[in-house]
Amino acid sequence: MTLTSTQSPLAILGGTPTVPDTAVKHWPPIDDTDRKMVLDSLNGGKHAFGPNSQAFQEEMAAWNGNKYGIFTNSGTAALHMGLVGCGVGAGDHVLVTGYSWSSSATCIIHHNAIPIFVDIDFDTINMDIDKIEAAITSKTKAIVAVHLHGLALNMDKLMAIANKYNLKVIEDACQSHGALYKGRKVGTMGHCAALSFNQNKSLCAGESGMFLTDDEEICAGAASLWSFGETRTPLESRDYHAYALGWMYRGNDLTAAFGRSQLRKLDGYLEAERSNAAVLRAELQDITGLILPTEPEGHSHTYYNFSIRIDMQAIGWTGDPVRMRDAIVKAVQAEGSWCCVWQRFILPSMTVFQAKNAYGKGSPWAEHDALDIDYNPANFPVAQRHSDTHFAVIMPLRAPNGPDVAKLTGQGIRKVFENISKIDPDQILDSK
Ligand SMILES: Cc1ncc(COP(=O)(O)O)c(C=O)c1O
Repeated sequence: MTLTSTQSPLAILGGTPTVPDTAVKHWPPIDDTDRKMVLDSLNGGKHAFGPNSQAFQEEMAAWNGNKYGIFTNSGTAALHMGLVGCGVGAGDHVLVTGYSWSSSATCIIHHNAIPIFVDIDFDTINMDIDKIEAAITSKTKAIVAVHLHGLALNMDKLMAIANKYNLKVIEDACQSHGALYKGRKVGTMGHCAALSFNQNKSLCAGESGMFLTDDEEICAGAASLWSFGETRTPLESRDYHAYALGWMYRGNDLTAAFGRSQLRKLDGYLEAERSNAAVLRAELQDITGLILPTEPEGHSHTYYNFSIRIDMQAIGWTGDPVRMRDAIVKAVQAEGSWCCVWQRFILPSMTVFQAKNAYGKGSPWAEHDALDIDYNPANFPVAQRHSDTHFAVIMPLRAPNGPDVAKLTGQGIRKVFENISKIDPDQILDSK
């Protein structure tokens, strides 16, 4: 009798992988419209301040439901612009989640302000809103509200706190295009927002981002950073004078053309992400040892990143969780099920914050009496637990992959967990 791949020994121990090599298709799918729009831009010859850049910011703002959009060369640039648009200045304290991409927090240092971390809520992997008030002081000016992995924060609760303390809210929606809270899209509920269009994002334009807001004054403040501090408008009146401290954060027309073309497909991509995630969830839901992503009432998750946590107690593991997680990830990958560890460091533990020396001479902490701010990782136990025990399924849920790939991916994960007693981290991680 021949064994099927799911009955055969684990692939990492010499068995047959569950998912064939060629099953998972590349992201993003490219078609003739993408090729034509990018080539038209190339041939059009207006690479800076071109027609696609202008149109992309209008179309993206319209898609998201914002009045204003500014096309940037990254999501990080849009975050920095948001802080400045909201009036954050040197030495101000800005609250941010303890677990995210590094630039959700380094954008705060970019403007000489001081990041104050708040631990996460384990269920949602987002900032724990109930811990925000304890972190607010007279120096607190704003909150970078990260909607992580495609799940919106509870914006009613967050905005109630922001309004109570007169704080500005910059939504970091870089991972959450199209995520909904009570039917409203992320990026429309705070004072302004940032989207990213880098390689892995739900809308990929190669690199680049978008600053979004409904507030004219915030928009003008953000725009002052965008292009060398040249604040004169319209473009025809440009006088090459730096009126404010500016950076060079403009996107280019080729990228905008790619972004515009992908935007036409974004709703379809998001639908695929959600329906593939439902297939994966169905495949995984009865497996001992897995904690699957939650979608609280009133939220619509995009499953940009389907983040799974391993319940170490349930699988009977009492050793180092990171070693066990890393061994499991290798075993799942050997099955051909695409997965990764998304971010293995919590933000406060990153060297840039631990060293408190971003610009040298202790800046910005030293000159703002902030050297005693406590970034001890032990103060963020929930973020640490998440970081140490998670792994992410991303690519198999993206178009053009369909339910077959999501199901196979789940079968590979299932096979590993049904054979969990055979996972020996020493053997898997230390053998050559
Ligand atoms: C949550 C979050 N914030 C900000 C960023 C920064 O975006 P970008 O890479 O476009 O600068 C990213 C992505 O890398 C992200 O995932």
